[in-house]
Amino acid sequence: MTNALDFTDKTVIITGAASGIGRATARLLADNGAKIVIGDVDDQANETVDLITHGGGTAQFVKTDVTSAADVQNLVQTAVDTHGRIDVAFNNAGILPPVARFVDQTEKDFDKTIAVDLKGVFLSLKYEIEAMLKTGGGAIINTASVAGLIADPDMAPYVAAKHGVVGLTRSAAYDHGKDGIRVNALAPGLVETGMTEVWRKDPEKWDAVTSNNFLNKAASPEEIAGMVLFLASDLAGFATGGVYPVDGGQTAR
Ligand SMILES: NC(=O)c1ccc[n+]([C@@H]2O[C@H](COP(=O)([O-])OP(=O)(O)OC[C@H]3O[C@@H](n4cnc5c(N)ncnc54)[C@H](O)[C@@H]3O)[C@@H](O)[C@H]2O)c1
Repeated sequence: MTNALDFTDKTVIITGAASGIGRATARLLADNGAKIVIGDVDDQANETVDLITHGGGTAQFVKTDVTSAADVQNLVQTAVDTHGRIDVAFNNAGILPPVARFVDQTEKDFDKTIAVDLKGVFLSLKYEIEAMLKTGGGAIINTASVAGLIADPDMAPYVAAKHGVVGLTRSAAYDHGKDGIRVNALAPGLVETGMTEVWRKDPEKWDAVTSNNFLNKAASPEEIAGMVLFLASDLAGFATGGVYPVDGGQTAR
């Protein structure tokens, strides 16, 4: 019997894999045989590549700002030139705007958040789908958030962008299901990464945000990566247009 979680000979693009959820996912997929192509603005992505290649895996880093169409096209083209095709993409790059009440949010922070968290996913989907159409399909997973399903306090631009990621996911899944392309979104709750360090430093705040779910803790990046592995695999062959909370139950109450 074949192992559906074996990604040998599959090429996977991952954006935002210099750290956090993206790095953990890159490592997990590489451990399962995938060839990883990372797009990130941060040169720390080289460390992710080293972690994978020192373990015997295959990975490369293509410096990419997901807000730039030219950069995203270059990322996809590099993956295709190197490996002949892309099978899976994980559109995960993201930023958090400064935490502030709605009325105190600035136009600048709104534009920046929408550019990275929403337009970045649009551009990634567009060029990945273009490449997948030439090779008969693939699986794409976008990182939304619980903030794509419900309002998190004091982060209106992020909530808007992540709700938008859910919309892009459903649209892309609708338009390209017949082309053999599955598109799903993850909705992580609180995850212990650089993004949430600002809260971790404040014990009172950390207590409040970790008691927001049934498990009373934050997820490790690895606990999010497992869902990406599943959605990217043939075991999820009928899953498309879905939004999958991995949130300790935060949105279930
Ligand atoms: N940490 C959480 O609690 C949490 C919860 C829900 C969703 N998310 C989402 O998970 C994703 C990963 O975040 P994380 O928690 O691992 O944080 P992180 O800060 O460790 O990772 C974000 C990654 O995105 C990259 N990035 C930022 N701007 C970019 C750009 N313009 N172009 C390319 N890459 C860029 C960063 O360099 C970094 O590698 C994000 O989309 C985030 O919104 C995080």
